[in-house]
Amino acid sequence: MNFTINVWRQNGPKEKGGIATYKVSNISDDMSFLEMIDVLNEQLIIQDIDPVVFDHDCREGICGMCSMFINGEAHGPGRGVTTCQLHMREFKDGDTITIEPFRAKAFPVIKDLMVDRGSFDRIIQAGGYVSVNTSGNLPDANATPIEKQDADAAFDSATCIGCGACVATCKNASAMLFTSAKVSQLSLLPQGKIEASERVMNMVKQMDLEGFGNCTNTGACEVECPKGISIENIARMNREYLSASITSK
Ligand code: SF4
Ligand code: FES
Repeated sequence: MNFTINVWRQNGPKEKGGIATYKVSNISDDMSFLEMIDVLNEQLIIQDIDPVVFDHDCREGICGMCSMFINGEAHGPGRGVTTCQLHMREFKDGDTITIEPFRAKAFPVIKDLMVDRGSFDRIIQAGGYVSVNTSGNLPDANATPIEKQDADAAFDSATCIGCGACVATCKNASAMLFTSAKVSQLSLLPQGKIEASERVMNMVKQMDLEGFGNCTNTGACEVECPKGISIENIARMNREYLSASITSK
């Protein structure tokens, strides 16, 4: 398969960026999207052109690093997949494919397709943890009963890989889906209830400080999330935040 690739090139956070167009050929339909960029980069290196910088790590849908906008969609066409899980058979031979970085004020471009998602790390640092007794004198984990539906909901929330597709997709660049998943995965469980009020207040405060926008219930985040994180998490976080803000006064 052969493609025309329009890709965002930007030398640094303060540099002006723009779209560059390259041809890429002999792409197998079994290749992943990232492997296609690897081939493009090999061609660019041979031509003495800087390779396209992009984030990646696990290449199996776990790490959340391979964040890019492909033909106007976070992680490209298809549902429930990250860019590294996207195959070139999703495109037609001869297609023109446009690749851009995730765009949000809180995700500044580092270079080309690589953005700084340290803002997500700082939200987690603000409260995404539980204080656990690590003295060695611990009760058996199974001694704490947990309702099946709570365990399932907490597990579903915990599948968020922090990729940022929800932010990049949202017209307000809101991080509510990410933050609410990280709040829920802890507050639904007994171990996470101790610091629940403090956690939701601090994480929401940090989210606002980072410059993310507000949620207006469009629901686009849920559609583009590769892990199917539900916007029910946002409703749950709003309830928790309201309750925490009343009791903390
Ligand atoms: S909620 Fe979904 S889209 Fe947002 S960071 Fe988590 S996995 Fe990515
Ligand atoms: S490279 Fe890890 S999720 Fe894509």
